Amino acid sequence: MSKRVRKAVFPVAGLGTRVLPATKVIPKEMLTVVDRPVLQHAVDEAREAGIEHFIFVTGRNKATIEDHFDMSYELEDTLQKRGKLKEYAELMADLPAAGATSFTRQQAPLGLGHAVWCARDIVGDEPFAVILPDMITLPGVRKTRCIAQCLEAYEQHGGNIIAVEEVSPDDTHLYGVVSIAQDFGQTFQIGGMVEKPAKGTSPSNLIISGRYILEPEIFDVLATVEKGAGGEIQLTDGMKKLSELQKFFGVRFDGRTCDTGSKLGFLMANVAFALERPDIAPAFKAELKKMLGAL
Ligand code: UTP
Repeated sequence: MSKRVRKAVFPVAGLGTRVLPATKVIPKEMLTVVDRPVLQHAVDEAREAGIEHFIFVTGRNKATIEDHFDMSYELEDTLQKRGKLKEYAELMADLPAAGATSFTRQQAPLGLGHAVWCARDIVGDEPFAVILPDMITLPGVRKTRCIAQCLEAYEQHGGNIIAVEEVSPDDTHLYGVVSIAQDFGQTFQIGGMVEKPAKGTSPSNLIISGRYILEPEIFDVLATVEKGAGGEIQLTDGMKKLSELQKFFGVRFDGRTCDTGSKLGFLMANVAFALERPDIAPAFKAELKKMLGAL
């Protein structure tokens, strides 16, 4: 039987150069989608799926991330004194339990594989989730978000799990790509994987989309992986090596992913998430219709 997955690693040490100048002083994970920081949306997804411990791999200039997941005494006191009890209750509900967060630093942005490796001592010897917080997800017909679907696949198959999505074959060179060895429908056994394949060489149009369940042996492998695409230590290269020893399964995410790490994706995320909010959607739709009518 597979072990329970209790911990999630959120690599948040990247520089966010695609969304400059917004990210000159604000970490890209703290930009807001509707009224919540991008990272809060990712943590919400993990909490909904039953994750209990949240590990953030941060870097310099990311201190606001730690503050966001702490109490803000003056603010909370003032909200209570002014009778803003709904706002106070919402802040309290978002706060992770005492001791349920850990922060470590990646001293230089050497790549996603290196960022995950930085969490090795905090994760320890148990399977764990990896959530790229700039990719935020909305449920599809299955009503769950991406990491919950990965956990379901993990219960079904064990091994290591990678969430995938289909893209146009013209875009595969921008992503990590997997191929199918045996298809089970929603899930499949992965045959191979490659990071940013040269145009025309991709084994499929199924891209790795930012959610993983990994066995702890990945850390030993990542310790030996050399720099790959973009001069960075790539998680995909580590997983490829681990796949020589352990099984990997893909799960086709039923839902919608927005890449807030690009300017267009960030704008799309705001629209998609606002349209899902019962308190905002009606007025927002009316404004959108007016804007679209004027195009
Ligand atoms: P990205 O490549 O999307 O992030 O990495 P980035 O480097 O911040 O983006 P750009 O291209 O400069 O705009 C995916 C995730 O991995 C983290 C990022 O913070 C992001 O959440 N990451 C990436 C690290 O934590 N460390 C790294 O060395 C690289």
